[in-house]
Amino acid sequence: MKDSVKDDILEILIPETDIRTKVGELASRINADYRDKNPVFISVLKGSVIFLSDLMKNVDIRSSLDFIAVSSYEGDTESTGVVKLEMDLRESIEGRHVILVEDIVDTGLTMDYLKHNFMTRRPASFNICALLTKPERTRIKVDIAYKGFEIPDKFVVGYGLDYAECYRNLPFVATLRPEIYRKVK
Ligand code: PRP
Repeated sequence: MKDSVKDDILEILIPETDIRTKVGELASRINADYRDKNPVFISVLKGSVIFLSDLMKNVDIRSSLDFIAVSSYEGDTESTGVVKLEMDLRESIEGRHVILVEDIVDTGLTMDYLKHNFMTRRPASFNICALLTKPERTRIKVDIAYKGFEIPDKFVVGYGLDYAECYRNLPFVATLRPEIYRKVK
C-alpha cells in the first residue's frame, strides 16, 4: 500500500540541499551577531519547528529556547486575517535578546502582531528570522533581519509547513497537486 506524502507533490520549489546551505548561512550570521548576548530563540508553533531545529543545531553560541503558538489559517490556504494567541511563552523576555523564528511570512499579520505583543514585554532587542517570505502577498511590512528565500505567490508545504496539518515532514518546500486540496477538504 502506498502512503507516501511525496506522491502528492506537484513541484519542488526549494530542494533539501538549498535549505541546508541557507540554514547554515543564517546560523553563521546569528553566531557572529549574538556572541556574548545569550539570545532566546522563540519558535512560532507549529510551522517553524523543523527550521528551528536545524537552525539551532548550527548555532554554537550560548542561547535558550521558548515557544509561542498563534494561528490565523485554521487549516485553510487563506489567512482569516485575525491572529489568535493559542499558547504564550513560558519565560519572561524582559531584557533578553529575542530572535523570533518563523517558517513563513506571508501577509505579515502574524509577525506584526507578535512584534507589537513582544515589544510591550521590554526585550533588550528583537529580530525576526524567517525561512520564507512571499513579497507579492505582503499586507503589513515587517523587517526581517535573517531572511531565507523569497518565494512566489503559491501555497507551499513541507519543511514544517502544512496543508490541513499534513506534509510538515517533507524535507523540502513544494507545491501540491491541485486535486489534493479537493480530496483533503
Ligand atoms: C502560518 C505560518 C506563520 C503564518 C504566516 O501559520 O507558520 O505563522 O501562517 O502568515 P501571515 O504572514 O499571513 O500571518 P499557521 O496559522 O498556518 O499555523 P501553523 O504554523 O501551526 O501551521
